[in-house]
Amino acid sequence: MRILGIETSCDETAASVVSRSTDDGPLRLESSVVASQGDLHAATGGVVPEVAARAHLAALVPVVRQALADAGCSWDGLDAVAVTAGPGLPGALLIGFNAARGLAFARGLPLIPVDHIEGHVAANWLPAEVGATAEAPPELPALALVVSGGHTELLLMEEHGHFQRLGGTRDDAAGEAFDKVARLLDLPYPGGPPIAKLAATATVRRTRLPRAWLRGSDDFSFSGLKTAVANLVASPDAPPPAEIAWAFEESVCDVLARKAARAAEREGVASLLVAGGVAANRRLRERIREESPVPVHIPPPSLCTDNGAMIAAAAFRHLGEAIPAESAIDIFSTAVRKAAVKRAARTA
Ligand code: KG4
Ligand code: ZN
Repeated sequence: MRILGIETSCDETAASVVSRSTDDGPLRLESSVVASQGDLHAATGGVVPEVAARAHLAALVPVVRQALADAGCSWDGLDAVAVTAGPGLPGALLIGFNAARGLAFARGLPLIPVDHIEGHVAANWLPAEVGATAEAPPELPALALVVSGGHTELLLMEEHGHFQRLGGTRDDAAGEAFDKVARLLDLPYPGGPPIAKLAATATVRRTRLPRAWLRGSDDFSFSGLKTAVANLVASPDAPPPAEIAWAFEESVCDVLARKAARAAEREGVASLLVAGGVAANRRLRERIREESPVPVHIPPPSLCTDNGAMIAAAAFRHLGEAIPAESAIDIFSTAVRKAAVKRAARTA
């Protein structure tokens, strides 16, 4: 079985072909094409939703064609089309969703809507390289830490396709904090990679920034840290930017690693999965491996940031939920998901 995965929830237009030769067998990554809009949004220091949507419109068809060509796959070789249904930017999601629906309709293929956050977690079932087949998949139950530009969530995954949300950020997402602090330090968007690069050059490593532990909960908070950085940058005796970047990265990675490790211990899971763009951070990968009481799985950096392969990978667990392309279907935005999480917390 071969699935084409399409992802357009934020600022990456991505498509990929993923296959599986036996039911429940390991996944093979046949191709993964990502057209990043990073440079387009650098001038504004963040994603402008309409600009993102229009860029997806321009990039989508060439990206899909390339993903099929790289996989050496014809339309007849596909069994389903999977696409991100949300959460994400509504305009951006609509471009990918409608394109996937059109392709599925034209080719008579089933359409599998995929949750973006679940997609990030599913990247842990992919091999590290194109042309390879996954080895040693993670053991369940697992605890998943999803850290991206839009989300910071701790999820308990008892079985495939089933997640219980233990906690998440109460304000900024971890990646959002990297992006905002980058702006304070005059670094380009997206802020994660340049902050990590600058932090690695710090010669003095003394500054200690606050950590919001929010004890007794699996929630996170990064807005106080961002304010602390802003105050430090503005103070007359501010340390050099490299030391600030280092102290910031330490604070974020310390909280994420310790809270994820403690939750993994408490829940008695068999593995700890890390996913999302911030999981590409070297220091976070290191700290989580230091703290975790159970085996840690983190996709290679190229499969941590948004990609189509993770959407196809997640779709293999939802084959029974495929829908005809002409059915009444909709996307769901990040705002809709956040409101649902708040409602659930109030009634819990
Ligand atoms: O998962 P992703 O590609 O998109 C969303 O779903 O949001 O994550 C993008 C986020 C951005 O905030 C970016 O700054 C962050 O991931 N990021 C990193 C690194 N690479 C990307 N953060 C820290 N260190 C990195 N190396
Ligand atoms: Zn993402």
